[in-house]
Amino acid sequence: MAQIAPSILSTDYSQLEKSIKTAEKGGADLINVDIMDGHFVPNLTFGPKLVSDLKKITDLPLDAHLMIDNPREFIPKFSEAGADWISIQIEATVHAHKDITMIKELGKKAGIVLNPATPIHMLNEIIKEVDYVLIMSVNPGWGGQKFIESSLKKISKLKNWITGQNLDVRIQVDGGVNQENLETIMESGADILVIGSAIYNTENPVETLRQMKKILQKNNQK
Ligand code: DX5
Repeated sequence: MAQIAPSILSTDYSQLEKSIKTAEKGGADLINVDIMDGHFVPNLTFGPKLVSDLKKITDLPLDAHLMIDNPREFIPKFSEAGADWISIQIEATVHAHKDITMIKELGKKAGIVLNPATPIHMLNEIIKEVDYVLIMSVNPGWGGQKFIESSLKKISKLKNWITGQNLDVRIQVDGGVNQENLETIMESGADILVIGSAIYNTENPVETLRQMKKILQKNNQK
């Protein structure tokens, strides 16, 4: 069944523990942590220490999305900090195979990320090495952006490829996911939905997340 990974990017960082507990109470499957270096994306967020501090307060798997240049430099640091899933942007490295191999050798789930303009065929030589592909449905850097509709075709094209090749690769989708488009995105082939503002910027984030989980469960029974 499809999973939900709340993203803490748009939360109040002075209330991080509360945001994590909200995710747990709402039935989150993992926590998405957006790592930004101010170079690969024009925004700056967290480093490995935040991941190790989050590790102290939750048993949920931590999914570190490295939106950074030269990710290889930080893969060991986020692994050591306790990230369970580590994804790198294919646009940020000339050695994607080496970087993905490093993540797997560290015993972590290895993900490769495609920005909206990056075509799926860029995955030709790496798809069999990864545990998941993250399709960015917004241009990375900020939460609260609008879902890029052309992502739907990209997701189903990737799903067909994975199914056709009988690969054990999951599809993660991140950016502009909300209660209105959740089902459509899942029906296109998404297995894991990264959701930030559509959860945390609501009146009752726990209830919102619970509703989203219900939508996924209902769809799963179809
Ligand atoms: C962009 C971030 C966001 C975040 C989710 O770089 O990756 O997509 O995780 O943000 P929302 O759900 O608010 O679009």
